[in-house]
Parts: sequence; structure tokens; C-alpha cells
Amino acid sequence: MTEPHRGALGQGNDIGPIPFNQTTHGERYAPLRSSNPGQGIDSAMWPWRQSGLFVSPKSVLNISAMRYAYEDSPAADGWGRLPTRMPHRYGRGMRVGILTGGGDCPGLNAVIRAVVKVGVRRFGHEHVGILHGWRGLLEQQTVPLGVRDVSGILDRGGTILKSSRTNPCRDAETTQAALDGFAALGIDALVVLGGEDTLGAANQLHAEHGLPIVGVPKTIDNDLSGTDVTFGFDTAVQIVCSSIDRLHTTAESHDRVMVVEVMGRHVGWIALESGIAGGADYILIPEHHPNVPAVVDALRARHSRGLDSSIVVVSEGVDLGDGGAEGERDEFGHALLAQQGVGDRLGAIIREATGFDTRVTVLGHVQRGGTPTARDRILATRFGTHAAEMVEEGLFGRMASLRGAIITDVPLADAVGTLKTVPDEYYRLAQPFFG
Ligand code: F6P
Repeated sequence: MTEPHRGALGQGNDIGPIPFNQTTHGERYAPLRSSNPGQGIDSAMWPWRQSGLFVSPKSVLNISAMRYAYEDSPAADGWGRLPTRMPHRYGRGMRVGILTGGGDCPGLNAVIRAVVKVGVRRFGHEHVGILHGWRGLLEQQTVPLGVRDVSGILDRGGTILKSSRTNPCRDAETTQAALDGFAALGIDALVVLGGEDTLGAANQLHAEHGLPIVGVPKTIDNDLSGTDVTFGFDTAVQIVCSSIDRLHTTAESHDRVMVVEVMGRHVGWIALESGIAGGADYILIPEHHPNVPAVVDALRARHSRGLDSSIVVVSEGVDLGDGGAEGERDEFGHALLAQQGVGDRLGAIIREATGFDTRVTVLGHVQRGGTPTARDRILATRFGTHAAEMVEEGLFGRMASLRGAIITDVPLADAVGTLKTVPDEYYRLAQPFFG
């Protein structure tokens, strides 16, 4: 029998006790899934499980099927064992949607894995994957998301749920479609992995329409307030740093200036950290108004000291004061900065002013691809774990956050209000190494 879903649209978790074999979402816990059809653990086992005993005629016959069935069971612990005391939500686990929006970044899959594994094993949650970010909510594109679906994805870049830059709040019609989509999925909570735009929409849907949403901060740009760092950033910095290492050697061979354009949108975190780590000879970031003549002077000074090659890192959002170029905008109104070609324009200025042989490398989406660093995998796992806990605790309208060494959470509104920019003193750390 299917009962109406609870918790959606902030209706609360106020249903009374329910029989062990009946759930808030119909029959979703029984029969359990099995890796071997016909040999799995069926609903006849529920009385055994309710009592906490780890024995049944079928389980004795097929240990492997039993393990898989327990793996997916809300009552099993991380090793597939039944607890002797049932969790307080036994048989009442929440149904949780997960979506990934905006530009992808390494670590998204690690978060998805943690939300699902922790949610299932500790709290008895079940999950549904919403495809293509907010677009999947509007268009009802979903996939089932069980423990086995998220096995083996910890180290995979990208997102198994796919992404888009769809804005669900762009007008009244799409907002209504998002609310309808949420209700139609029968979910009690939604975990949203996103950056400024995706979480901005999440905040709006929570604040104005009461959707029970938990946010997880993602972006290679590291520009979200409310958290010391976002996952994906460490990997992007590592990719840029190793690219700069390579550019050093070819620049030296040819006595060239290498301009390296990196991502970061309106902030210079990637440029600054990769430039410091890669020994760049000049770093330009959007927060620090660029003094192009000073760049030219620094390069000339290097050459006059017999250093015939140089590396200049420039963040894509830097305003060179030359008028720039107008490009396309996305659904959230952001210019596609790659089209503005700041690297090429800076390279041309340097070439003309110094006469040095100058080349430009635009690293582009390479910075977002591939496997996450170990640091990002750990951060993503911690964020995902905390997001599952926040769902269980009903901490909606909030975002998982790293503060110092501690994982905590902050209001979504605090995270999306203003961009986290590079502080002046951090940029000053790099300046003595210029030229
Ligand atoms: O926000 C992440 C980011 O990679 C920015 O650094 C960059 O400006 C933008 O996304 C690129 O977006 P797209 O993937 O739509 O080209």
C-alpha cells in the first residue's frame, strides 16, 4: 500500500507508527533487491530482521545474495551486518533526491557516494538521482541510486548524475515546474551539489517555497562564501600547477614568455595558488586591478638579468582595461569568460611592448576534468557524510561547510550572498616573487 510522501514542501515528519512491512513510500523496502534473482532475501525475512536475528533459511542457503541484500538494507551497518538494536527510523527512512548543477568538478561523484552510502547504512534513507541538475527536476529525469550504483565512483571525475546550468527560478512557470517536480518525485529532502548559481536557486526554493534542501559547496573556482574551501578546487590547482611545471621547460628551451590563462570566473583563487605553487613570474587576478605596464617592466627586468623565459598566469576574469570582448551569457546571466580571450589579449600586449617571443596557453576545461586529488576525495566524502546527517536531522536551508579542520553547516543564504574573493594580504604573499 502506498501512503502519501511526508516531509515534502515542509509538511513535517508527523505520521504515526507504521507496521514494519509498510513504509512511507509503499513497498520500497520489501522485497529487498538481490544480485541473484530468485535467490535474494524476500519480505518473509522482515520478521527476522525486525527481531535483530541474523538468520533465515534463505540466508543460510545463499550468503552472497544475503550480503548484497543487506548492503542495500536500511537496517544494515557498513559491513552488511544487522544491528541488534534497530535505528530509530527503522522502516521509516527518508526518500532523498540528489542533483548536481552548474559546471562539473572533480569530487562530485565522491559526494554522491557518501550521501548514498551514509544515508542508507546509518539512517535507512533511500535515494533517487535527478539528472542534468535542475533540468532533471523540471523534466522529471531520474535514475535509481542505491549503494551498488555508487560503488567504484570515488575516484571518477565528472558526475554520474550529469549537470546543466538550468535556472529553475528563471520565471514563475519554471519555479512552479520545480515545485511540481519535487512533489511528483515523492521525496522528503533534496541534496543539491552546486556553486553560487545552483545553490542560489536552492536557497530561493527553500526560502520562498519551503523545499527541504541541503546544499553541498562545489566549484573549482573556490568562490563560495560560508566555507573555507570547496571541493574540486584542490584538483584544479594541482592540474594548473603541473601544467605550469611543463610550460617552464618548453619556455626555457625557446626563451619565451608563456601566458597561461586559467579559470576562476570573477575570483583569482586558482590563478594565485597555482601561480605560487608553480613559481609564476607574474600573476594577475580579478580582485587586484592589473597594472599591465608593471607586468611588462617585470618581464624586461628578468630578461635584463639573463632570465630569458617567463611564466605569466592570468585569471580569465581579469579586466585589462582594454574594453574586453562581449560574449554569450548563461541562464544565470554570467558571461562565458573563455570567449573574452584575456590570455590572448595579454599575450599580444606583452609581445608588442617587449618584442619577446610570447605564446599563450588557455587551459580551459582540462582544469575541471579527470580524477580528484586525495584531498578533494576526502573533503567530498566529509561533505557528503555531513549532508546525509543534515537530511536526517532536518537541517534544511543550510549548506555543509568546512571551517578550519571542522565540517559544519551554514545557512544557504550566507553562502550565496556574496562571492568569496582573494584577500589582499594573500595576493601580497605572491608579489615579492614577481619579476
Ligand atoms: O564555475 C566553474 C567554471 O569552470 C568557471 O571557472 C568558468 O568560467 C566556467 O565554469 C566555464 O563554464 P562552461 O563549462 O559553461 O564553459
